[in-house]
Amino acid sequence: MPGFELFGGEERKEVNDVLDTGILMRYGFDAARKGNWKAKELETAICQFFGSKYAQLVSSGTAALTTALSALGIGYGDEVIMPSFTFVASFEAVLSVGAIPVLVDVDDTLTLNPEAVRNAITPKTKCVMPVHMCGGMADLDALVAICKEHRLLLLEDACQSIGASYKGRQVGTIGDAGTFSFDFVKTMTCAEGGAVMTNNEDLFIKSDGLSDHGHDHKGVDRGADLHPFIGYNYRISELHAAVGLAQIRKLRQFLDIQQRNHTLLKSVLQQVPEITFRRIPDPSGDSCTFLSWFLPTEAITRAVITDLKEQGLLAGNFYWFDNNWHYIRKWDHLKNAVTLNALHPDMKAAVMQQTNKNFAASDAILSRCVSTAISLLWTEEQIKEKGERMVQSIRKVLAQQGVSA
Ligand SMILES: Cc1ncc(COP(=O)(O)O)c(C=O)c1O
Repeated sequence: MPGFELFGGEERKEVNDVLDTGILMRYGFDAARKGNWKAKELETAICQFFGSKYAQLVSSGTAALTTALSALGIGYGDEVIMPSFTFVASFEAVLSVGAIPVLVDVDDTLTLNPEAVRNAITPKTKCVMPVHMCGGMADLDALVAICKEHRLLLLEDACQSIGASYKGRQVGTIGDAGTFSFDFVKTMTCAEGGAVMTNNEDLFIKSDGLSDHGHDHKGVDRGADLHPFIGYNYRISELHAAVGLAQIRKLRQFLDIQQRNHTLLKSVLQQVPEITFRRIPDPSGDSCTFLSWFLPTEAITRAVITDLKEQGLLAGNFYWFDNNWHYIRKWDHLKNAVTLNALHPDMKAAVMQQTNKNFAASDAILSRCVSTAISLLWTEEQIKEKGERMVQSIRKVLAQQGVSA
């Protein structure tokens, strides 16, 4: 999945442009920077590549979610519906703006089950936040329809699905706003960084200001900028943007390699009829960072994970059900609403209520799911060998469990 696998001279050149001037900040110092505006250039490239009207770079994907939520006006008293399977950043961002994350079940798309979203809507619901996990995408037609019907905002957390598309449009550009992460293990990386994308000028202006202490950025003198609202510092540096600029120029190549490697690995695993694959609402839009597959039961899946480990094949295969970062089951800090800052008691109670619900439907999916990360560096032979060894391991476990001979 990560662009860091194909890191090289292009990134070095862009970073050196910045180092040569010594202007590491994205704003100001117009003369001294000698025409280098890496963050601005990357924002333009993002708009062009993904088909978004506006893009605001920030310091991380988490900062992008926080910025987008604030720009959308989400805060005290609001509920944001999000999936039980995501990365901790999704609920961290919701909590950081003072809203309540309402976690609901995922289905075999590995993201929001539209029926679960419908059932979770209350008068306090303000936003639905699909998280396009593991390179795929949510059922956006269904979610857009729900948001229209109930007049809700749609914020796409597309941090893990850079380059995925849904019916011809890039994920992250379909809702009211969308976010990317450019951290070190994303499809393209800035080392650390993120972006808010939107087609709404007002949201863009708010994102631009919020991520830089509320500056209105109307003049050339930062000291004279006005502050129409309170903001924070979520700025990206020119050094990080420079890395991203080199990476976005190679993004099409990264995606093509991922898709080719994913197709080949899938064709090998397809030999086993007991393996089923994650449902992708628009298969032609899969960014293919992961191949996610299911086995018939939790017991079989756990036994396969154990066997893959014994065979030295586990690296790159993720069993999210036991993962501390990605699934509700292990988020005790959230379930107990443990924060360093004091929460209003009503908020604490609401967070605990929302996160201690029954997620049996999600458990039934995640307990049988394995995601295999797709490397950009694999050769065809390596993929075939890896796939065949995985197939052998799975067949052995199935036979031991009496599922097939
Ligand atoms: C779904 C999702 N949302 C948000 C983030 C946060 O991105 P960052 O690490 O850039 O803060 C991540 C990072 O892994 C993620 O996977």
